[in-house]
Amino acid sequence: MKASISQVLVALFCLAATARAVEPAIIPVPQEMKLQDGVFTLRADTKILADGRDRETAMFLAEKLRHGTGLTLPIRSAVRPSTGGILLTTKNADQSFGKEGYELTVTPDSVIIRAATEAGLFYGAISLMQLLPPQALGSAASTGVAWEAPCVTIKDGPRFVWRGLMLDVSRHFYTPREVEQVLDAMALHKLNVLHWHLVDDQGWRIQIKKYPRLTEVGAWRKGINFGLNPKDTTSYGPDGRYGGFYTPTDIKEVVRYAAARHIMVVPEIEMPGHSSAALAAYPQYSCKGGPFNTDVSGGVFPGVYCVGNDETFDFLDNVLTEVFDLFPSKYVHVGGDEVPTKSWSECPKCQARKEAEHLNSDRQLESYFIQRIEKFVNAHGKTLVGWSEIREGGLAKNAVVMDWIGGAVEAASAGHDVVMTTQKYCYLDHYQSKDHVKEPKAIGGFLPLREVYSFDPIPHDLPAEFQSHILGPQGNLWAEYIPNIRHAEYMIFPREAALAEIGWSSKDSRNFDDFLRRLKIDEQRLDQMGVNYRHDPTNTGEK
Ligand code: ACM
Ligand code: ZN
Repeated sequence: MKASISQVLVALFCLAATARAVEPAIIPVPQEMKLQDGVFTLRADTKILADGRDRETAMFLAEKLRHGTGLTLPIRSAVRPSTGGILLTTKNADQSFGKEGYELTVTPDSVIIRAATEAGLFYGAISLMQLLPPQALGSAASTGVAWEAPCVTIKDGPRFVWRGLMLDVSRHFYTPREVEQVLDAMALHKLNVLHWHLVDDQGWRIQIKKYPRLTEVGAWRKGINFGLNPKDTTSYGPDGRYGGFYTPTDIKEVVRYAAARHIMVVPEIEMPGHSSAALAAYPQYSCKGGPFNTDVSGGVFPGVYCVGNDETFDFLDNVLTEVFDLFPSKYVHVGGDEVPTKSWSECPKCQARKEAEHLNSDRQLESYFIQRIEKFVNAHGKTLVGWSEIREGGLAKNAVVMDWIGGAVEAASAGHDVVMTTQKYCYLDHYQSKDHVKEPKAIGGFLPLREVYSFDPIPHDLPAEFQSHILGPQGNLWAEYIPNIRHAEYMIFPREAALAEIGWSSKDSRNFDDFLRRLKIDEQRLDQMGVNYRHDPTNTGEK
């Protein structure tokens, strides 16, 4: 009897082990995946094969696996598969899954990742890492783990070209290393845009050489504010002021780190509103000359640039010139949301501008402002992005609209590209549960995981011929109530994983129960990577 119990236990154990090995848990779910019998096992003598630029992804993969598995897999130059090897190649790739597509074939003898581009190769490597046990992603090597990937053939590529996450570092400052940790977790789910909200009323976070006061004054405030506990953050300067900023060296390093993960960093330099931090440093670019300060935490914010003053535009052009130099991204976000026009209506210069330009309203004055900035942005070969409101007084010619409160259908129908950050589905600062006692204090709202997962970035009333203008979805993390990166991660994950699946996988493949099954494994990956997340003990994604 005893013998048979242990036999049963052994059999159950094997079954469990096999089940883990044969049921892939890739997030976002691939477009096409066929499971085969058997596994590929990483060993000390497994070689990574790659040639030319493909070696970059090979090195990334080798480095990750070295940390998690303790195996130092050698990289050899090759463009053909060989027994026991993991081949990464951009030769002879099937292009039917788009620029970021890839094919991943795992057999007991070898792994082949084939893609038309380096980005595709990278995503193939990410999928391979997700086929391995979660410990493979660890920052420290695990022992006693069979490094097996189930045999599969995957053909995959994203539904949308823009799969974004916005980080607000103005309300609270996160260090470059902390931002890089978020980039690592974004790469795990094949996100490809970090929208870096560098500027707002409460802090200016990017050092600009020509205007040192932007960070000497604008990067700091007296206190943590928003009713938060000052001990919940470490972002204090040597003089006890609260805040921080990124030097050009910091920015270049974050941009490089992101690019190595095929993530584009889109900077946001807010204007004409949400500009108290800039105007605390340079009040001469406001209508009344100030005073302004960064210790603002609610209501309508007074920080608005004067549209009537040509020197305002000189200042912003100079700032943007330095921004262009630091960010290779084709896109530059200039905000444009929530602009109070009271100071314009009381300003003789702004009203004179309105008259000279034959504008009928202060909303049109706002459009004049954005259109003038757009000319400068376009002249530098860049594309302007702005929030929903930039449409209100007439949309700038080539602008991309970031829809948070509407306008996608109108903008896309007029031929503009649109990023969907619909407040109802994409605002990661909203509560994840109705139980506010157990949750950390948030700005409000209610956005459970299931709701995020139900989002379709294509508006249902957008005619088919304009749908290609929807670039994709993006999650926004506004940080008023989020004073440290652990808390930020708690708000981002796992809702970001749901957004990643919306941005990548086909609409037909959506299956929330299967997503929850895969998420259980994904949480183990995040654990291994040291990333914080909200674990839902009910595993329903809706509490
Ligand atoms: C926004 O949430 N004000 C874009
Ligand atoms: Zn003015």
